[in-house]
Amino acid sequence: KKVVLAYSGGLDTSAIIPWLKETYDNCEIVAFCADVGQGDAELEGLHEKAIASGASECYIVDLKEELVADYIYPTIATGAIYEGTYLLGTSMARPIIAKAQVEVARKVGADAVCHGCTGKGNDQVRFEGCFAALAPDLKVIAPWREWSMVSREDLLDYLAERNIETTASATKIYSRDANAWHISHEGGELEDPWNEPSKEVWTMTVAPEDAPNTPEYVALSIENGRVTHVDGVALSPYAALMQLNEVAAAHGVGRIDITENRLVGMKSRGCYETPGGTVMFAGLRAIEELVLDKTSREWREQVGAQMAHLVYDGRWFTPLCNSLLAASESLAELVNGEVVVKLYKGQASVMKKRSPNSLYSEEFATFGDDDVYDQKDAEGFIRLYSLSSRIRALNSK
Ligand code: ARG
Ligand code: SIN
Repeated sequence: KKVVLAYSGGLDTSAIIPWLKETYDNCEIVAFCADVGQGDAELEGLHEKAIASGASECYIVDLKEELVADYIYPTIATGAIYEGTYLLGTSMARPIIAKAQVEVARKVGADAVCHGCTGKGNDQVRFEGCFAALAPDLKVIAPWREWSMVSREDLLDYLAERNIETTASATKIYSRDANAWHISHEGGELEDPWNEPSKEVWTMTVAPEDAPNTPEYVALSIENGRVTHVDGVALSPYAALMQLNEVAAAHGVGRIDITENRLVGMKSRGCYETPGGTVMFAGLRAIEELVLDKTSREWREQVGAQMAHLVYDGRWFTPLCNSLLAASESLAELVNGEVVVKLYKGQASVMKKRSPNSLYSEEFATFGDDDVYDQKDAEGFIRLYSLSSRIRALNSK
């Protein structure tokens, strides 16, 4: 018996290690941690910690570039945004983490995978949905749905009884999830939507009211719906995101506060910070404004709306996902150009945009004379366009 555990070094997954051994016949535990850009602080000393808690091995897999290039960039090209505001930061990272965890399970010949998600959330559904698609033969263990511990005190007592050291404290106010794209904050006073988030909630961005009084401009080059350059410098997807995170965070860009519908039916309130992502998202939409005709634009919006639910609901490894991405990619081929975004007091506003594929023409939009648009043509167009209304009105006389 061998189990690969998605391990973060936090209190929950630290307690899971001895619990698995006791509950599953002294099985061998292989710790697995995905580096998705959550920051060095979380990864420091992780290997030693995992072994000290009783794991036999610890794999830390660097997924940063792949996460941005193969999951985030394709998703934001579709325009996916959940319930109007959420840029899907946690959701987009789950498929790649699950995939890497399965790869470790195969490598070490494990027969089960385990995660520390609660039984009340979205993440359990996302992980297990991906496991089902990629490795239906692996058993899935979700301790939070099995054990009777409910609080941090319970977990601390559990570890203390077994002489396993932990630096975790009994009080941890917020439940957080971080990666290169975003950080999420839930719990604590946020559980009451009538509470304004306290200053302590936010960790990635400065408060808009404390941001500089002078705006800053950042230029993006966009090719095939991907940001390729920031201020004229060619950057890898991950490096571009890091660069934009830094400048946008300093101006308080990318904070949202949402009460969302979880897949399991309940509502939950969360505060999310996506500084660089907010700038990228705005830049892509600005180029689309120039290059997509009305019906292509309408279609892109439908694809984005579907994609938002698909990603949120953890259905990445499905034919529908491939199909939506294929549709999006064929439109993204047109999304080329440059934008200049102004960062100021929490806002990222596109100030300039241009594209070699632009359909916008000053010459045609002008009120002066031109040769492609004859105003007389509009009369016949409107008569036919409104024909059914005319017939209905005549019939009802
Ligand atoms: N509610 C957000 C989502 O479902 C954030 C979830 C955060 N997950 C976590 N394990 N803290 O995507
Ligand atoms: C959890 O319940 O494990 C985190 C929140 C979520 O998955 O929605």
